[in-house]
Amino acid sequence: MRKVLFVCLGNICRSPLGEAIFNSIVKKKGFEGFLVSKSCGTGSWHVGQMADPRMREVAKKHNINLTSRSRQFKTNDFQDFDLIIAMDRKNKNDLEILAKEPGEKNKIKLMRDFEKNKQNPDVPDPYYGGEDGFENVFQIVYKCTENLIKNLEKNS
Ligand code: 4NP
Repeated sequence: MRKVLFVCLGNICRSPLGEAIFNSIVKKKGFEGFLVSKSCGTGSWHVGQMADPRMREVAKKHNINLTSRSRQFKTNDFQDFDLIIAMDRKNKNDLEILAKEPGEKNKIKLMRDFEKNKQNPDVPDPYYGGEDGFENVFQIVYKCTENLIKNLEKNS
């Protein structure tokens, strides 16, 4: 079993989407029992909350249901997960500060490292933007998650 943790700032937009898309593709491919994902945020402002309604709406249009509740990253997550996927460079840097050993730091990757021909290293934060920002985030996160799963399949 490989466990993947998606991390953003608030855990109400980008990372709950990553979690839900990952688990949906895994289910479609019949890989439950081999691959699983969860998500969390580096910040604590939204702990206990459902994903942002704007993100839920866009995901629903693509037949993805966001059901997780926000929680904050904890240092035990370095032991509990095999791979920690940060949505942007700030998230990655915040996680690296919390890593105590090189083995922990090595588990942290950037989401868009799994995208070919990316225009930006970061999955943009859609929170303060318009609706089209959420659709753009969906497209980026879907593409990266598909490639991440293919990568995990190859290396299993
Ligand atoms: P997320 O988006 O990190 O993708 O969940 C955000 C959610 C909330 C805030 C910022 C980003 N906020 O400032 O409250």
